[in-house]
Amino acid sequence: MRILVTGGAGFIGSNFVHHLVAHTDHTVTVLDKLSYAGDRRSIDVLPAERVSLVVGDILDAPLVERLFAEHDAVVHFAAESHNDNSLADPRPFVDTNLVGTYTLLEAARRSGIRFHHISTDEVYGDLELDDPARFTESTPYNPSSPYSSTKAGSDLLVRAWVRSFGVRATISNCSNNYGPYQHVEKFIPRQITNVLRGGRPKLYGTGENVRDWIHADDHSAAVLTILERGRVGETYLIGADGEKSNREVVELILTELGQPADAYDLVTDRPGHDLRYAIDSSKLRAELGWAPRFVDFAAGLADTIAWYREHEDWWAPQKGATEAKYAAAGQG
Ligand code: NAD
Ligand code: DAU
Repeated sequence: MRILVTGGAGFIGSNFVHHLVAHTDHTVTVLDKLSYAGDRRSIDVLPAERVSLVVGDILDAPLVERLFAEHDAVVHFAAESHNDNSLADPRPFVDTNLVGTYTLLEAARRSGIRFHHISTDEVYGDLELDDPARFTESTPYNPSSPYSSTKAGSDLLVRAWVRSFGVRATISNCSNNYGPYQHVEKFIPRQITNVLRGGRPKLYGTGENVRDWIHADDHSAAVLTILERGRVGETYLIGADGEKSNREVVELILTELGQPADAYDLVTDRPGHDLRYAIDSSKLRAELGWAPRFVDFAAGLADTIAWYREHEDWWAPQKGATEAKYAAAGQG
């Protein structure tokens, strides 16, 4: 197959392209505008006969139409992805996540291409810390932030284009990813690189908020499974039973890097900060037989720490500007 991957120079998109090269014979075209979050070096290491990069915007309808005509399937990762940025300036989130997804769906409607839409568990809002419930495919949408509301809107567009126009689409909503090639603005890389630079991790609020962690390679395997065997029109939740409080994650990072487990700072909380996410991925596991490989979070985190230690050349160019932004927001 010829697969078009939007946002394939970003964190999860590039991990997915690496996964396709390692586990399939498909050829891959990445469509990515190389925003601050995209980095061609994340895919440059892959063989040129398998992977090519088109630098362009998903809002560019003629470009999208041309690329759809040349491919068998599209996996749509491209997005503005960071909650904190969406609180500072929501506009790019509306443009890329809503209008960009609309642009792709209109092209899919005309070309008939198989379409997989990547989304997030944040569309479901948050859970109490002691709530035994987890998100399922039938949990009502209740997004909190500009980021998650634009992702929720994009999911609803996909559902409408399936029902109204017969677009052959599936949707997946995944929990928090960790692994190589993640931008240093995000929680885990920010704390690892702070400590590697001799600084301290920064926990929002009290650090009690819980995220449900999954390795990006497990996410990639799940997406490939859905692309190959998922039922058109269906939504699948992806998660690896990885609930941890932010404080627990920081303590693991500090310990792995030989620092006292309490050598962190508490900083200004994120406005509207979702308390807890938790995914029930039974449908994906039972229907399509997917299971995560990275079941030991501490081991996966140690691999990720080692990757950031060995790839300072990859993350160093973004670190200064990212920390300056956090400092200006009182979170430095
Ligand atoms: P990221 O910010 O690391 O990467 C996004 C990529 O999209 C970048 O390469 C960027 O250049 C590109 N992009 C942005 N706007 C574009 C546009 N208009 N046209 C073309 N390319 C554009 O994001 P990520 O963390 O890899 O997330 C990828 C997808 O996965 C997103 O849809 C996100 O909502 C979803 N998701 C992320 C997580 C997570 O934990 N990071 C979890 C669940 C779902
Ligand atoms: O749940 C899936 C979502 O996970 C994705 O849809 C988003 O694209 C992705 O960015 C992620 O969103 P979060 O807001 O959960 O991720 P972030 O890395 O920004 O923060 C994780 C948690 O850590 C959150 O509770 C906020 C907290 N945090 C974050 C930063 C950057 C801190 O305590 N300190 C920090 O410095």
